[in-house]
Order: sequence, then structure tokens, then C-alpha cells
Amino acid sequence: MAEKIWKVAVVGCGSFANGQYFPNISKEADAVCVAAADVVFERAEAACRRYGIPKAYHDVYELLENCDFDIAIDAASIQAHHEINMALLSAGKHLISQKPAAPDVERLSLQIETAKKNKVNFVCAPIHPMRYDLSLARQWMAAGAIGEVYYAKCNMSHGGPEYFQYRDADPSWFFEPGAGALVDMGVHGLQIVTTLFGPAKRVGCMAKVTTPRRTVRSGAFDGLEIPADKIPDQYLITLDFGEGKMALVDSGFSEKASKAPQLEIFGTKGTISFTKPYMQNPVPEVYLDSPELGIRGWMEPMPGAKPPEKLLSQCCCLRDLIRSIETGLPPRLSPEHARHVLEIMCAIPSAAEEGRLVELHTAFERLY
Ligand SMILES: NC(=O)c1ccc[n+]([C@@H]2O[C@H](COP(=O)([O-])OP(=O)(O)OC[C@H]3O[C@@H](n4cnc5c(N)ncnc54)[C@H](O)[C@@H]3O)[C@@H](O)[C@H]2O)c1
Repeated sequence: MAEKIWKVAVVGCGSFANGQYFPNISKEADAVCVAAADVVFERAEAACRRYGIPKAYHDVYELLENCDFDIAIDAASIQAHHEINMALLSAGKHLISQKPAAPDVERLSLQIETAKKNKVNFVCAPIHPMRYDLSLARQWMAAGAIGEVYYAKCNMSHGGPEYFQYRDADPSWFFEPGAGALVDMGVHGLQIVTTLFGPAKRVGCMAKVTTPRRTVRSGAFDGLEIPADKIPDQYLITLDFGEGKMALVDSGFSEKASKAPQLEIFGTKGTISFTKPYMQNPVPEVYLDSPELGIRGWMEPMPGAKPPEKLLSQCCCLRDLIRSIETGLPPRLSPEHARHVLEIMCAIPSAAEEGRLVELHTAFERLY
């Protein structure tokens, strides 16, 4: 019997969809992109011309009414995700949502319930739980390679979407309420440390507006001035995981350059350090202290007998979704994990303004 070819529609045809989704849909899975939708219709049309996609639509509603597809990827701007996701899940479509999928825990819970009610699968970006380097580190940690693990330090900052990334779409929305450095960048750091340690128990934070006016530095809006004083653009987030584990996530739009490793994990017998771009599937460096053997130092380990799957592109979330549809197993990029990260992000403004640790209540299972 012929393999099923999954029909995929992309909603939101901006930088990320063009850079990561359209070129990789058919490389990541037995799938083909059948439609592109964007409220700026010319972007949907441009994507169709560029990638040979048969049909462009003005929005998710026109797409749902006129197009036959199985899976949607919501790659629209952050503020639009909840409405788009609810429309797609209510219509019985499997869904990949860019981050964060909703503005608060209640609305993400509604999306999760809607997916369950309509028996469709739902995964949420970012893709860190699928990373090769993080999976290797988790194997080593589970084997006790660096002893009792107690601390992770994650640097997840760049100089801002108007500075760091080439953009043809106006990046002003990144600095408007509902978006901002926390939900755009903090979400990565928070997903990484919760991938390592599981759900957190309490969160604390300091946050600042460092750059109240920004200037676009490339692309179609080069030179555009953006007011950026409504939400903090740099965060120092502390997390308590209980059981002697804690994490620091440094995240925002105000570090033009840094030589710090993106991530380091510390244990009683050593350190795991992530110094290379994760999309290259690097093997992390490990420092081991073995008094028994009289040896200590840095090493570049070989992957073990069961190496994790390597990443091809950020569109690997499509592979995760299709695998969970086809096997009935839970996805790696679970919406419950995304909901826990969202709860942390929603607690951070109170933690920062009131200078206190905020208790967290949601949880998720790490099944892989
Ligand atoms: N590494 C990562 O995981 C990563 C990196 C960059 C962006 N992102 C995420 O990808 C998403 C898009 O970011 P981007 O950088 O491509 O932004 P962008 O501004 O380049 O693109 C967003 C697109 O969505 C369209 N859009 C807005 N509202 C819409 C709606 N209601 N219906 C249909 N289309 C709509 C806009 O017209 C625009 O073309 C965001 O959620 C962002 O957080 C993730």
C-alpha cells in the first residue's frame, strides 16, 4: 500500500516560515505543503511562487473553508496564535504551533482540551526536547556521569529581532504587549531547563527595559525607529525545581554579542558545556572530576551505543507530530510542557515587580 502523504498548510508566511518551514516540510516527513495563508496576502502569494505551493489564502478562515489539508503549522505573529490555533483545532486539524501558543495557561488548556475532544494531535515549538546535544546530556546525567546534578545556567539572549535577524516583515510587533523578549527568547531558555530537570516549583526574576528605542538594522524596514519601552527586554530568571536543583536563565534582546556557552549543567562530579550551535548536532564538552582515578579535565565524549536522533531543521516538529499521529505515542514537543513554560512566563511579571518567588502549579511528564 502506498505511504500516506500528509497535506500541510502554513498560516503566517514571515521570516521563520520562509527560513525553516516551507523549505523543509517534504524533507522532514512524507508531507507536502498544499497551502500558505497570511493576513498580508502578498506574503502568502510570494511563498507559493517561491516554493511551488498550489494555493494562497488571506487568513485561517478562508483556508479552512476552501482547502483540504491534514496538518497546520501556525507560524504567525505571537499575538495571533490563540485565535488561529482555536480555529484549526476546532476544525479537527492536527496542529504545530509556534511559541507561545497562547497568552495564558487557561487559553492553552482550552486548546489542549479542544485537541483532545476533536481527537487531533497537537505539538508546540520550540524544538529543544528533540535536540541531539540535550538528549546526549540527559543520557549522561541519567547514568550519573557528572554526579548529583544541581544547577543549570542558560544564556538565551541576542541583540533583538531588529538587530540580530535579517527581516523583510516589520519587527515592531515584537515590542508590543503580548510579545516581547520573555515570550520570544525566554521561552527557549525555560523550555531547555525544564527539558533537563522537569517541572519547576518556584520562579523568581529581575527584569529591565535596557533600550527604550530601537532602530531596525537590515531588510525592508532598515532604519525604522521602534518605541520599545512597554515591556522589559532583559530578564534574569531563577528557578527552583526542588530536590536540590536550580537554574538561572538569562534571556532577552539586549546582548549584542556574547561568548558564554548557551548552556552549562553542573554536578558534583563535573560539568556539561554546550558551546556549539545546536542545529549542527554537536556533542557537548564534558568536564569530569574522578578522584578515584586521580584524573580531572575536559573531554569531548563519543556518543554512546544508542545515539539520539539528529536534527535536520527546525521543521523537525513536523516529524514529531506525524510520528505521534502514526504511533499513538505522545509527542516530544508536548503542549503540556508548553503550558508549564507558559505558566512560568505568566508568573514572571509578578515575580519581578514584587521581588518574590512565585509558586508554580502545572506539571508535565517527560516520557522520552
Ligand atoms: N527559533 C525559533 O523557535 C523562532 C525564531 C523566530 C521566530 N519564531 C516564532 O515564529 C513566529 C513568527 O515569527 P517570525 O519571526 O516569522 O515573524 P514575522 O513577523 O516575520 O512573520 C509573522 C507573519 O505572520 C503574519 N500574520 C500575523 N497575524 C496573522 C494572522 N492572524 N493570520 C495569518 N497570518 C498572520 C504576518 O503578516 C507575518 O507575515 C512567532 O511565533 C515567533 O515567536 C520562532
